[in-house]
Amino acid sequence: MIEENQIHALEDVLQNREYELQAHAFGHFSRTAKGTDVFIQTAEKETKNLAYVVGLLHEEREDRIEETLLPIGLSHEDVSKVIYSVHMTHKKSYVPNRVARAVHYSNKILEGDGAYIVFRRCHFCGESKKYRGWKATDAITERFRNLKNKPNNFPSFTEILVREQIKWSGRFLEAIESKEAWALDMGERLFLEGRARNDIENVVRRFETKTVEQEKFFKETLDYIEGKKYEEFKNLVFPEIISATL
Ligand SMILES: [Fe+2]
Repeated sequence: MIEENQIHALEDVLQNREYELQAHAFGHFSRTAKGTDVFIQTAEKETKNLAYVVGLLHEEREDRIEETLLPIGLSHEDVSKVIYSVHMTHKKSYVPNRVARAVHYSNKILEGDGAYIVFRRCHFCGESKKYRGWKATDAITERFRNLKNKPNNFPSFTEILVREQIKWSGRFLEAIESKEAWALDMGERLFLEGRARNDIENVVRRFETKTVEQEKFFKETLDYIEGKKYEEFKNLVFPEIISATL
């Protein structure tokens, strides 16, 4: 079993690494790890700890996972379980691995949607090489159109949560497409923050809201990055259905 102190040691190592993109840096890995608990509420501690570690390492290469975990003291057996589950999180179709699924849902439904995705995605468009030379609004519109979550891409026990999350991303895309000033301004400012490669959590915390709409997105996002949303998310998925589904 992976112990708590090994998880803390791993978090220390990952926090001190350099990352190419702010949207895929420690904050993202840490929240993906924390969010797994929403989807495996009924699991035993051993499974929860494994899911947490897989969440932390879900974008890491196999050889790097081994290099990172063995010095922290994880057994070869636990390292193999982590590598296997990370591998499974990248499968496109349903996988018979509850840990991999919890990480996938956390990554897509919590980290990849909601009010927070407006901050992360607009920032990513500014930061990513893919959108060099693009206007902020064009890049943002393209990205939001192409990366829409749909409730039927996820199991039925997540449906209410997914619907709540896509309300935010859907509302933002609609506002960008109809050129609502608050959304254009928000997108533009976050895009420039990405260009400047500023830390995403700091960008959220010091974001100045100028309208009621911006304030709503800001407040929800701040609550999420401060870890205040998980209990509410847990209540939007049904434990009894979780046990039946997983
Ligand atoms: Fe990810």
